[in-house]
Parts: sequence; C-alpha cells; structure tokens
Amino acid sequence: MESRSVRVLALVWGVALEAQAFDFLGSESCQSCHPDAWAAWKASPHARAKDVLSPTQQRDARCLSCHSPNEGDQKVAAVSCESCHGGGQYYSSKHVMKDPELVRLAGLVDPTEKSCRACHDASSPSIKPFDFKSRLKAMDHWSVERAKKKEQSARLDRPARSLTPFRTLTPFRTLTPFRTLTQWAALEKKR
Ligand code: HEC
Ligand code: HEC
Ligand code: HEC
Ligand code: HEC
Repeated sequence: MESRSVRVLALVWGVALEAQAFDFLGSESCQSCHPDAWAAWKASPHARAKDVLSPTQQRDARCLSCHSPNEGDQKVAAVSCESCHGGGQYYSSKHVMKDPELVRLAGLVDPTEKSCRACHDASSPSIKPFDFKSRLKAMDHWSVERAKKKEQSARLDRPARSLTPFRTLTPFRTLTPFRTLTQWAALEKKR
C-alpha cells in the first residue's frame, strides 16, 4: 500500500486502535529486518522465560502472567518482542516502521521503567530490588543496530560530498526509480 494512504487509514483508525490490543505476529516476524536485536533477545532470559518453568508451572496462569504473558491471548510464548513493543499487526511493514510518528500511531510502544516493573516488582523472586538503569543495560539489543545505522548513514552521505564527473555520468545513481526502470527496460530490449 502507498505510504500516504496508510497514513490516512492510520489517522482514521487512530482513535479506535488506541483503545484496543493489536495482534501479535511473533518474534520471528521481526528477525529478518532486526537480526541483531533478535539475536540479542534470543540469547536473553526473556526468550527463555517460559522454559524455566516446570511443565506444571507452564500451565499455571499465575506464573504465565509474567513468564509468558501473551500466550493466552496471542499464542506467542515467553516475554516476546511484542510483549514490550506492542503487537506488530499494523506497524511492522517497512515504510510504517521508518516513520517515527506513524509507527507509534500504528501501535509501536516505547517501553518504560513502569512497563518493566509490571513484572519486575516485589512479587518476582529477586532478592535485589529492580534497578532500571543497570537492568536495561543488561538487556541491550539496540546498540549494535544503532551503530550499524550510524555507519550506514555516514556512508550514504559520502557520495553527495564527493561527486566526481564520473559519478555524475553514471545514470543509475541519480535517476528516480521510475526512470531507472525505464532505462533497464530499454537496455533489455536492445539486447
Ligand atoms: C520489513 C522490515 C521490518 C520488520 C518486519 C520490522 N521492522 Fe522494526 N524497523 C524497521 C525499520 C526500517 C526501522 C527504522 C530504522 C530507521 O531507519 O531508523 C524500524 C524501527 C523499529 C523500532 C524503532 C522505531 C522508532 O521510531 O524508534 C523498533 C522499536 C522496531 N522497529 C521494532 C520492531 C519489532 C518489535 C518488530 C516485529 C514485531 C519489527 N520492528 C519488525 C523495519 C522492520
Ligand atoms: C510478577 C511477575 C512474576 C510472576 C507472577 C512470577 N515470576 Fe518468576 N520471575 C519473574 C522475574 C522478573 C524473574 C527474574 C528476575 C528476578 O529474579 O527477579 C523471575 C525469575 C524466576 C525464576 C528464576 C529463573 C532463572 O533463570 O533462574 C523461576 C524459576 C521463576 N521465576 C519461577 C516462577 C514460578 C514457578 C512462578 C509461578 C508460581 C513465577 N515465577 C511467577 C517474574 C515473575
Ligand atoms: C523486555 C522488553 C523488551 C523486549 C522483550 C524487547 N525489547 Fe526492544 N527495546 C526495549 C526497550 C526498553 C528499548 C529502548 C532502549 C533505549 O532506548 O534505551 C528497546 C529498543 C529496541 C530497538 C531500538 C530502537 C531504536 O530507537 O533504535 C529495536 C529495533 C528493538 N527494541 C527491537 C526489538 C525486537 C526485534 C525484539 C524481539 C526480538 C525486542 N526489541 C524485544 C524493550 C524490549
Ligand atoms: C512480561 C513480563 C516482563 C516484562 C514487561 C519485563 N521483564 Fe525482564 N524478565 C521477566 C522474566 C519472567 C524474567 C526471568 C526470565 C528467566 O530468568 O528465565 C526476566 C528477566 C530479566 C533480566 C535478566 C535477569 C536479571 O534481572 O538480570 C533482565 C536484565 C530484565 N528482565 C530486564 C528487563 C527490563 C529492563 C524490562 C523493561 C524494559 C523488563 N525486563 C521487562 C519478565 C519481564
């Protein structure tokens, strides 16, 4: 769907969507676009949160409320990406994800200290009180991705600064996608 019509739809739905839960797509659905975040999460206690329970405990709703909170309503086990970031039903296409405003309108949640404390509170077994700053650091799954993004945008900036005559003559870099396709088609015909 075109980005603008998605935006209009999101605005129309906006009010209704805000009040309701969004369907989950499962953590694997995030993997292809966020491989580094996924790998870090997969190696973390959150991904294993259901596995530490015995078979009997895995059927105990009291334990599942923190160790696998969306199994009942969404059939997604453990503490998944979407347990924290919200159901991906509407936000996880590329053009929505790239628009910080639209992506939140479409259900992406920014997890806060308060959302951690919904599970990491006095009734969880830890002897030490929950220290948000250090615990956040311990579940880092964003630094690698952010560093790569920075590197990438630095690389994209470079050609603009150093346009050589050769670059200018290379048609594919500067033409719009439409023209490029036309050119490819013309080239194909010639062959
Ligand atoms: C089709 C590819 C794709 C899929 C699938 C996808 N993402 Fe994204 N995501 C992106 C892109 C692209 C960005 C924007 C990165 C940038 O350019 O800053 C992004 C950004 C994000 C951000 C930061 C948004 C912001 O504005 O701060 C979060 C959080 C995120 N994705 C979580 C998820 C989760 C959770 C899932 C799975 C439910 C998911 N993504 C699925 C491509 C995807
Ligand atoms: C209020 C949320 C909450 C509930 C309810 C809850 N847990 Fe936990 N549980 C946690 C958190 C958070 C941790 C990990 C951090 C910590 O130690 O506080 C944890 C850790 C554990 C661990 C240790 C895992 C490890 O890697 O060593 C076990 C075992 C466990 N819980 C079992 C249970 C069982 C069994 C139940 C149900 C009777 C239960 N929990 C209910 C939040 C909860
Ligand atoms: C326990 C909650 C939790 C889980 C589970 C979780 N995240 Fe996050 N995620 C966060 C928090 C909190 C941040 C923001 C960290 C910060 O800004 O300091 C974050 C940040 C991100 C970012 C970086 C956004 C940016 O601004 O650069 C991406 C991408 C992301 N998460 C994707 C995922 C994916 C994909 C999964 C599952 C594979 C996942 N997250 C699982 C809580 C979670
Ligand atoms: C839906 C419940 C839930 C939410 C929300 C949640 N956690 Fe957890 N978290 C758990 C459970 C359950 C475990 C224990 C898993 C295990 O040990 O198997 C855990 C374990 C951890 C651990 C590893 C144990 C430790 O204390 O070092 C860290 C770190 C952690 N969580 C950080 C966070 C942070 C930071 C947030 C908020 C951004 C958060 N969690 C949100 C349920 C949750």
